[in-house]
Amino acid sequence: MRAKDLLTLEGASRADLREVLDLARDYASGTLDRPLLGKTVCLSFFEASTRTAVSFELAARRAGADVISLSEKGSSIQKGEGLVDTIVTLDSLGADAIVLRHPAAGAARIAALHTDAAVINAGDGRGQHPTQALLDLHALSGRFGGFEELEGRKVAVVGDVLHSRVARSIIPAFQAAGMQLAIVAPSTLLPLEAGAWGLPVLPSVDDAIDWGADVLYALRLQKERMTGGSPRVPSVGEYARYYGVARRHLEDGAVVMHPGPVNRGVEVAGDVVLDPSSLIADQVGSGVAVRSAVLALATGVARSRVAA
Ligand code: NCD
Repeated sequence: MRAKDLLTLEGASRADLREVLDLARDYASGTLDRPLLGKTVCLSFFEASTRTAVSFELAARRAGADVISLSEKGSSIQKGEGLVDTIVTLDSLGADAIVLRHPAAGAARIAALHTDAAVINAGDGRGQHPTQALLDLHALSGRFGGFEELEGRKVAVVGDVLHSRVARSIIPAFQAAGMQLAIVAPSTLLPLEAGAWGLPVLPSVDDAIDWGADVLYALRLQKERMTGGSPRVPSVGEYARYYGVARRHLEDGAVVMHPGPVNRGVEVAGDVVLDPSSLIADQVGSGVAVRSAVLALATGVARSRVAA
């Protein structure tokens, strides 16, 4: 059976999302009978990662796969070996799934052209980060009492949308789950394509609360991608005043999310990160079951019922 890549959530249907979440729920409740036994999963990270790399590794191991981890340091990537040659090498070694993180948008799509293994996009530059959006939906479903309960909830996506692959995956995924979205960002941190999304753009987190946000989804200020030219925010302090989630924003019961790593006191106030209203730890915790489910569907060991 041809492997089923997971490159993007643009165009994903409600049924696509449900399928992964239902399987993840089964796996999280313990019915994970080593479905990936005999399969080889290669983790290929050309860019830094803690949560994504560790949870993919746990997800693959718990599901019984043989796991090969390749990071820039210590592999031939350090000697300048490029993406395609790395992918072809992993393919020749018998990979069934290749989990790829890369600084260039579009890298996962290129990789998929050069292998029969399932390519799972674990973050490509400013492109997509589909498994992040899936684990976010898993954490949200847990908080609100099920996937069906997400319908009509209001989510404000706050901060550095310009550089965020997470934003580009959660926006279509949350909409497919029936949620309403707004963006809270200065125009200097909005991409050109934001106009085509047709979403309201609000000037501060205070305004998002007035709009009725049930969820404040804060994005990291990605300083490493702000290369050259003039700064995109006047100062970090000024940014935090309008776009930082503070304790006062929790008064009406809003839930706080962030994909991590958090710049404490910038995107989210230090005392809010581990507050009961914060879903940040649940997001990380959802990663293992969701990624096991993604690997099982991608390699075909869990039969997809959704038409391709
Ligand atoms: C995100 C990423 O790397 O895209 N983090 C993650 O995967 N948990 C977000 C970020 O780095 O800001």
